[in-house]
Amino acid sequence: MGAVILGTGSCIPERVLSNHDLEKMVETSDEWILSRTGISTRHISGKGEQTYQLATNAARRAMEMAAVSADEIDLIVVATISSHMLMPSCACFVQNELAAKKAFAYDVNAACSGFLFGLDNVDKYLRAEPGKKVLLIGAETLSSRTNYQDRNTCILFGDGAGAVVMEYRNEDRGVVASNLFSDGALWNLLYMHTAPSCNPDIEQPDNPGAHILMEGREVFKYAVKAMEGAIRDLLEREQVDLGEVSLMIPHQANIRILNKLVSRLGINKEKVFVNVQKYGNTSAASIPIVLDEANREGRLKPNDLLLVCSFGGGFTWGATLVKW
Ligand code: ACO
Repeated sequence: MGAVILGTGSCIPERVLSNHDLEKMVETSDEWILSRTGISTRHISGKGEQTYQLATNAARRAMEMAAVSADEIDLIVVATISSHMLMPSCACFVQNELAAKKAFAYDVNAACSGFLFGLDNVDKYLRAEPGKKVLLIGAETLSSRTNYQDRNTCILFGDGAGAVVMEYRNEDRGVVASNLFSDGALWNLLYMHTAPSCNPDIEQPDNPGAHILMEGREVFKYAVKAMEGAIRDLLEREQVDLGEVSLMIPHQANIRILNKLVSRLGINKEKVFVNVQKYGNTSAASIPIVLDEANREGRLKPNDLLLVCSFGGGFTWGATLVKW
């Protein structure tokens, strides 16, 4: 039917940054952060934990579970907005680390929706090229892009990586369908500059450096509405009843966005996987980290229907159905 996931893996940096730690850095409180976001802790990279290194560790764990070796991988896709270099891609660094000699490699930038957009790319690639094997990774070190003097944003983000190994199978499972969207007109509600331009003729007014900037309330409003719309459209198109969904795997932005989405959809809360309290918002890494946790906890059973959804900078958003 489509591209199936053969194995999952994740890698979370060791260092924990708690709400109490943040109380010492900006004017905030554990109570404010918990009640507004549901986040208690997030993990922050240290030495040897660059984006490509987290990505490589997550990939190794996914490959081990899938019993696939690096020389069998044909394509490596990394969804990220926080690679340590703009060029080469994070995926090329991962390819080098793994010595996955025959793989071609590239990054996807769709902010928090990167893994979902990558999943659609990979599904279509594998349908066209059955027999190939793909590593799809979401990896971020958002701590390198967060202004720890800005209490509006620094409480939200964390670091981590998740990975899946995929292959086309002519079986009744795998990626069923996706419903993806972007609206570039809303770019200025959530964005991050690169380093200032070297070309004086290319204007970059008020470039404050590569920090995440956000209009939190607006993001909140759009995120709930957009994900609800994408999900409802997809279910209708695929003639799937919400009751048939075994587990919802949403991007872990914050608990209030998730609660609102869950109540608008009317899905049973127990069917929604949440780990934002531990890791905060890890952007493109959040969905594959959840997939790996759910998988290793035995929450994913053959024939389960998974509803994956995301929203992020761009804006970018969407929903995907996966039959496990
Ligand atoms: N601690 C204490 N007070 C704070 C903090 C903080 N960390 N941050 C902001 N405040 C203050 C504000 O300055 C404001 O004070 P004022 O009224 O004196 O001006 C007050 O709290 C209320 O601020 P709001 O922005 O209105 O707070 P809100 O209830 O909207 O919560 C939040 C802010 C948590 C950012 C919320 O808007 C939100 O969840 N937005 C979604 C953003 C998000 O998840 N972005 C992630 C990227 S996109 C994605 O992944 C989907």
